[in-house]
Amino acid sequence: MSTITTPSLPSTQKAVLYNIETKTLSLSTSHPVPAPSEKEHLIRVHSTAITNGELTWAPFCPDWPTEHVPCYDVSGTIVIPVPGSDLKPGDKVFGRVDAQREGTAQEYATILQSENARLPAGIGMLEAASVPMSAHTAWQALFEKGLLTGDFNRVPYVDETSGEIVGKELAKGKRVLILNAAGGVGLHAVQFGNLVGAWVVGTASKKNEEWLKGLGADEVVDYRNMSIKEYVAGDDAKKFDLVFDCVGGESMLDGWNGVKEEGGVYISVAPGFGEPQGGKPKGVRSEWFIMEARGKELEHIGKFITKGVLKTAVDSAYEMEGFEEAFARSASGRAKGKVVLRVGKDE
Ligand SMILES: NC(=O)c1ccc[n+]([C@@H]2O[C@H](COP(=O)([O-])OP(=O)(O)OC[C@H]3O[C@@H](n4cnc5c(N)ncnc54)[C@H](OP(=O)(O)O)[C@@H]3O)[C@@H](O)[C@H]2O)c1
Repeated sequence: MSTITTPSLPSTQKAVLYNIETKTLSLSTSHPVPAPSEKEHLIRVHSTAITNGELTWAPFCPDWPTEHVPCYDVSGTIVIPVPGSDLKPGDKVFGRVDAQREGTAQEYATILQSENARLPAGIGMLEAASVPMSAHTAWQALFEKGLLTGDFNRVPYVDETSGEIVGKELAKGKRVLILNAAGGVGLHAVQFGNLVGAWVVGTASKKNEEWLKGLGADEVVDYRNMSIKEYVAGDDAKKFDLVFDCVGGESMLDGWNGVKEEGGVYISVAPGFGEPQGGKPKGVRSEWFIMEARGKELEHIGKFITKGVLKTAVDSAYEMEGFEEAFARSASGRAKGKVVLRVGKDE
């Protein structure tokens, strides 16, 4: 790896490392500060978030070095901007770095201009790190892949002049089911579905019901006590135009019971997506996808944060030294929102 030698910057730094051979995490105090390419900003990291399962991605990321920096959701301040960009040193930004590259559990990291957005007003740096991957995934699942509003060119937005939200009825009459509404992706999906007027049902533990209703869920199905098969109970009117799976496994398979025949859509981002035994219901479109980081999309989503209609949730925050606990918490599959590592101190 090339290093950077700008006098005001250290040449080495603190970083969490994941060894892809021994499959162990460690904290280094002498990891090289990366040199940005001409398409990347160098940022001083404030916070970074963990994605459940990310340490299992090595087989899909052939360019990871043996000692790879994990975590791809980041908030921080610009140190060296991309030449010609309108960002300057000290500007606050957030974004999601492509998992094929080095992550952001380090004091200085690089992020492509195309992945990066200015920090919206109304959110702190720690909370901001919990947003990008989850918000992109939910936005793309509902509007781009799920076509909840009929066309990805027709999405809700905050009108610059009036400050009003436009598109609040774009999905009125549509029924959406979010499997795992309380995880990072699900909690954003609930809010986006609600934003466009859909009837939103989420699966979660009973303890998260009131919280999810506060975020805009119309109904919460306690997955520990009721399956989707039992919820619809053969009543086609209770089936969904769009089912979005953020959990996988048995719950993903059960989710097929909720998709409307002839026109229903089933979208998944969880590992192991598959069709039920006997094939999928007639006339159902389905897709598993990997989200894409897009700075402009994040800026668009950030306006809902500033407006106060999009909330985020930090399940728990750890100092870098608490990396093992933090990764264990995320891997437990019990996090309500995201697990965040606080890397820097400055706001
Ligand atoms: N393909 C992509 O582009 C992409 C992008 C982002 C994330 N992902 C994947 O999406 C999945 C979700 O990630 P996440 O960060 O949103 O959430 P997460 O951290 O995996 O979810 C934790 C939550 O799941 C709930 N939960 C556990 N089992 C459940 C079940 N059977 N039904 C309903 N809820 C259940 C837990 O609630 P209780 O503790 O109350 O039970 C907890 O609140 C992960 O597998 C992640 O790798 C994929």
